[in-house]
Amino acid sequence: MCGIVGYVGPRQAQDVVLDGLRRLEYRGYDSAGIALVVDDAIVFAKKAGKLANLEKAIADAPLPPATTGIGHTRWATHGAPNDVNAHPHLGFGRRVALVHNGIIENFAELRARIEADSDELGLVSETDTEVAAQLLELQLASDIDLTEAMRRVCTQLEGAFTLVAVDAHDPSRVVAARRSSPLVVGLGDGETFLGSDVAAFIEHTREALELGQDQVVTITRSGVEITDFHGNPQEGRRYHVDWDLSAAEKEGHDWFMRKEIFEQPRAVADSLLGRRTAEGLLQLDEMRLSDQELRDIDKIIIIACGTSFYAGMVAKYAIEHWTRVPVEVELSSEFRYRDPIVDYSTLVVAISQSGETADTLQAIRHARTQRSKVLAICNTNGSTIPRESDAVIYTHAGPEIGVASTKGFLTQLVACYLLALYLAQVKGTRFGDEITEVVMQLEAIPAHIESVLDSAESVYELARSLVGTPSVLYVGRHAGYPVALEGALKLKELAYLHAEGFAAGELKHGPIALVEDGMPVLCVVPPRGRDQLHDKMLSGIQEVRARGARTICLAEEGDDRVAPYADVLITLPRVPVLLQPLVAVVPLQLFACELASAMGHDVDQPRNLAKSVTVE
Ligand code: M6R
Repeated sequence: MCGIVGYVGPRQAQDVVLDGLRRLEYRGYDSAGIALVVDDAIVFAKKAGKLANLEKAIADAPLPPATTGIGHTRWATHGAPNDVNAHPHLGFGRRVALVHNGIIENFAELRARIEADSDELGLVSETDTEVAAQLLELQLASDIDLTEAMRRVCTQLEGAFTLVAVDAHDPSRVVAARRSSPLVVGLGDGETFLGSDVAAFIEHTREALELGQDQVVTITRSGVEITDFHGNPQEGRRYHVDWDLSAAEKEGHDWFMRKEIFEQPRAVADSLLGRRTAEGLLQLDEMRLSDQELRDIDKIIIIACGTSFYAGMVAKYAIEHWTRVPVEVELSSEFRYRDPIVDYSTLVVAISQSGETADTLQAIRHARTQRSKVLAICNTNGSTIPRESDAVIYTHAGPEIGVASTKGFLTQLVACYLLALYLAQVKGTRFGDEITEVVMQLEAIPAHIESVLDSAESVYELARSLVGTPSVLYVGRHAGYPVALEGALKLKELAYLHAEGFAAGELKHGPIALVEDGMPVLCVVPPRGRDQLHDKMLSGIQEVRARGARTICLAEEGDDRVAPYADVLITLPRVPVLLQPLVAVVPLQLFACELASAMGHDVDQPRNLAKSVTVE
């Protein structure tokens, strides 16, 4: 949801900013823009559409050299994605240039106030951002520096925002502010960076500084000064980024998504590393909740959005089975608006790959006001959701750039299983050897995923054969049901097709009316160990087949009872039913990626979407 870059140092700011925007483009691609400080003036360029449009505009009309600059790649909220609404926005005297991520909720009131003050301060865009640019410039007129101006403006703003600004009269600094919206600082040698995430500057430094809520940060060549909105000094948390530039590159794949699908064996293995003590007990380093606090928990509510929500649905099966603690799974955007029943004995588990999803962030804030403990499952060190939680389990997927979540999902599942087993260990609801057995089954999963990836070509062929199909259904039961939902979401967001996931047993209550002759129905068949479940799934497959569906069945190897009812059979490795999502979802990811690619869509940057959704 908008990518932001800032730079002060000895290099050409234009190069640093454009490189950073390239790595942040997954956050939004409705428009892109850059502003540089050159000879007491702001020089800028901005263009609707992808970053390539801006790069072309700059190639046609080169910008002068400069060593201080800011940049932005936009996911539109206020105002259409056109050149005028693109960031940066300038103040009325063109002294300030500003980029913004988030929503300034009281912008209409501020705008009315500015417009009432003078005709000369006319605003040209439909954005909330331009209002903040005008306010900054008005503040600078009273002979204060940009840092103080930023502080004064921030105290007038409501909503969630990251603002990054430059002042034409002061090329030595870039000033930023954040409230409930991401921003990290990169600490170089004689140069300093700002980015919505570390990908913006990972090429130049792996030393980063995490910022807190309601802070203003000023970067110069020599370092950083942080204060709150009232000028009180603050400190950031310094950390080392443990992945490098190659993790943010495609490494020979056509899409980041495909690369990330193929990274899943490694990502799952990394997420399991170091979780067992020498005595064979499970350990979760960042847990920060005492055993007693965990034993006191009598209800768990999982909150998440999109793919992370489906990981939460799988977690419910695992946690309830291994711990007998009741689990509710709820969409973050619904949670706080229904007056949920949570208290000190409720554990709220927030699942978020980015750690910045605004709906989930607001939900955990609400949960904490109700005195419940919050545990985050997150992939992004330095992000807001883990920082505002009581405990965290970090997944170790590495940066996920493709807008469609893949390795993020699998590593979330791993973290959920670990949490379930850890709770079982602490509460004593499972014997130690049972827990060890499941952990060993989890440790075997990377090799199983490798074997699924080895047969990617047959899934690709199937996907290509379905170009032109208007609609695809996905069905599953038990832990296969969220897999069906996730498969359908992948196809919707990438191929823009009608795709729906159902619990197989629910088909006969209505959705089966959708089935037409030749309609592809992807069926996630549970392993045979659970005979009743398996039998019922076979009945569901026969019901859709009898109505003309083309059945594409994902079933474990050696499952000869499925073959007669499968028009296409995709075999899965043998794993326990609760762990099956870890292998069953992989062909569905490959399928969506290939079908969308064959349809000519931009797999990494699907229309209307952005990687992290930092507005409610
Ligand atoms: O960063 P988060 O895990 O909080 O993001 C949640 C959803 O926005 C995300 O999973 C989204 O649904 C993906 N585009 C799915 O592929």
